[in-house]
Amino acid sequence: MSDERADLSKRPEDVATMFDGVAKRYDITNTVLSFAQDRRWRAATRRALGLRRGEVVLDLAAGTAVSTVELAKSGAQAVAADFSLGMLKAGANRAVPKVAADALALPFADESFDAATISFGLRNVNDVGRALRELRRVLRPGGRLVICEFSTPTWAPFRTVYLEYLMKALPEVATRVSSNPAAYVYLAESIREWPDQQMLAGLIREAGFRGVHWHNLTGGIAALHSAVK
Ligand SMILES: C[S@@+](CC[C@H](N)C(=O)[O-])C[C@H]1O[C@@H](n2cnc3c(N)ncnc32)[C@H](O)[C@@H]1O
Repeated sequence: MSDERADLSKRPEDVATMFDGVAKRYDITNTVLSFAQDRRWRAATRRALGLRRGEVVLDLAAGTAVSTVELAKSGAQAVAADFSLGMLKAGANRAVPKVAADALALPFADESFDAATISFGLRNVNDVGRALRELRRVLRPGGRLVICEFSTPTWAPFRTVYLEYLMKALPEVATRVSSNPAAYVYLAESIREWPDQQMLAGLIREAGFRGVHWHNLTGGIAALHSAVK
């Protein structure tokens, strides 16, 4: 069992190594820890992108490509990109194109995609503005962006229980399912310090997107931010 984990400085080498370490049991751990909400969140992301047959969509920080396969159901060509080769390898049986790529320096030409998404990935980069600008660069004019990320529950009593109790219990639960429980200490820390819905919307606008709006998933545990280039 590995115990590699990143800290809140989010050094790219640490983040990639940590995901390599959770890759084997990532999908199952994800489903257990999210009480199977992960499937609903992936479907909601696909719907929010409004993909059409023949379009090309980038799934950045795709991990095991479980999110990419969901996007491909739309008939669009979905491309998985991630910098953890361990995560991409763990999804090797998923029949979508996979590219080794760093979100901060994408290996794609300007305006290559009709749509782009990043689910549970943006929180892990150490320069959010730069990742958003890279996403904008590779989108065609009018291209759509959807970000699916943990966020801040909107109902105050639930928010307290979620942040003060559930987040503290998460590493303990992860010990029972994950191949790298220490990574889930980082997960809880990174969720607690992540910008809320409104602040993230501001960062997306600052990166040059327009039409920025969001809707909450599961009471704000996660949120989908949508925007247009
Ligand atoms: C929590 S997983 C999400 C995987 C998938 N999108 C999902 O929803 O199941 C986060 C992924 O982000 C990737 N990641 C983090 N920082 C990255 C970066 N700078 N460039 C590319 N991928 C990155 C990690 O390697 C990991 O696979």
